[in-house]
Amino acid sequence: MVSLTLVRGDITEEAVDAVVNAANSSLLGGGGVDGAIHRGGGPEILEQCRALRAERYVDGLPTGHAVATTAGRLPARWVVHTVGPVWSRTEDRSADLIACYRESLRVADELGARTVAFPAISTGIYGWPIDDGARIAVGTVSAAVTAVEEVRFVLFDEIAYAAFETSLRDARDR
Ligand code: APR
Repeated sequence: MVSLTLVRGDITEEAVDAVVNAANSSLLGGGGVDGAIHRGGGPEILEQCRALRAERYVDGLPTGHAVATTAGRLPARWVVHTVGPVWSRTEDRSADLIACYRESLRVADELGARTVAFPAISTGIYGWPIDDGARIAVGTVSAAVTAVEEVRFVLFDEIAYAAFETSLRDARDR
């Protein structure tokens, strides 16, 4: 049973085995968490992302998939890059967001990671409403069958933190 904890802060400061990156399919960096991880982790991460594009993901990493690289200078061993779905008013893309959490844990298990830090995937630039994003994150991770012992949700602002607190309480009351 994985233990869930909430952290208010910057995910690049988390000393865990694996940090999950809210990437885009290019794997070549971006803003938000992606930008912070590449800035903090240094060029090694991008070098390995480029190699993954050349060797395995020629058309880019598909939404809902996950792949690992070194964490470079971050206080972690690996970065697990996953591509969240862009929020849509007309289409329910929840399955893709669920897949991001599941696939990231599957990759973490393959690596032998025991502690994993997640950001609130898709709830920034990709526009996913934070309450629903938190519900999906907590629900998917708490139901996951994984050898990961601790998952930390690292929330960058008070609103996100409060949303995850509510989702965690709801999950525990169930
Ligand atoms: N640590 C933790 N959380 C962070 C950090 C950080 N350093 N920076 C941003 N966040 C939070 C945001 O506030 C949001 O709640 O992470 C969540 C995800 O936001 P984004 O990073 O914008 O990711 P996402 O919404 O999934 O959009 C992905 O943004 O950065 C680009 O290249 C990325 O194109 C991709 C898109």
